[in-house]
Amino acid sequence: MDSNVSYKGLSGTPHVKARCPQYPGSKIKRFPVPDDKVNWSQNWPQYSPVNYTDPLMTKKPAWADPDIGTFSPSFNSVDGAVDRTSFDGNYKVEKGIPLNPHGRTGLAGRGLLGRWGPNHAADPIVTRWKVDAKGEKVNHPVTKRPVLQFVAIKRKDCGEWAIPGGMVDPGEQVSLTLQREFSEEALNSLSASPSERAKLHERITKLFKSPGFQVFKGYVDDPRNTDNAWMETVAVNFHDDSGNSVSELPLQAGDDAGQVKWVDVDSSFALYANHSHFLELVAKERKAHW
Ligand code: BGC
Repeated sequence: MDSNVSYKGLSGTPHVKARCPQYPGSKIKRFPVPDDKVNWSQNWPQYSPVNYTDPLMTKKPAWADPDIGTFSPSFNSVDGAVDRTSFDGNYKVEKGIPLNPHGRTGLAGRGLLGRWGPNHAADPIVTRWKVDAKGEKVNHPVTKRPVLQFVAIKRKDCGEWAIPGGMVDPGEQVSLTLQREFSEEALNSLSASPSERAKLHERITKLFKSPGFQVFKGYVDDPRNTDNAWMETVAVNFHDDSGNSVSELPLQAGDDAGQVKWVDVDSSFALYANHSHFLELVAKERKAHW
């Protein structure tokens, strides 16, 4: 693997969120890793990361691996129902423990992540055009481009707005994860009658059957990442161009009290992990305002 490529994040810099000083959901401080020591190939004998795995893991939840030593996972392959391959190609395994392909993070163990090595997620980006009362597309006053809106959720773990993504279940096709996560998040919050719900379900199924636009596939610079466990995702855009499908999802646009809403696609809206980057790619693809 070319180290110049593999240690760079989306913006061309080494991962940043994966080195956040305080590990999320804990009081654990990461061992500080300067930019020039991220790459594993840099010899650094002084490196002594804290070893941390969330105490929840001792209860052996179904979504998590046991400790290394008590089971023998097959890394870099589809291991039973669990996909342990990385979108980044083969990752190194040292003394039976996988190494983060984007380099050091200042924390060993799994932290909050269930799987050793890659933890696969999927992100459905559902969009519609923003329209006025007459149903005409709204152009942004500065860029003069039409404005897209996407379905956002407020994450329970950190309170940040995000694409309604989630983890791929063992053996699950990513296409199903995309629809399942979207339906769980967007439909469960609705106070709709059973017949309205059935209609929406049908529309969602139809939209998710369409090919969609694959926005991103790969490593995510996520604050939960560790030296031995990291997030990867596939983000796909499903766009209701004509506005007569899921565009009618009755989510409260602009209402901050809600947990799900239609949000204008705009560079100034802060989002979780690298979700903002995904939306930028969607806006570009659809020739929309960013
Ligand atoms: C989230 C995804 C996100 C991924 C990587 C998952 O927990 O549900 O939306 O892309 O983590 O940050």
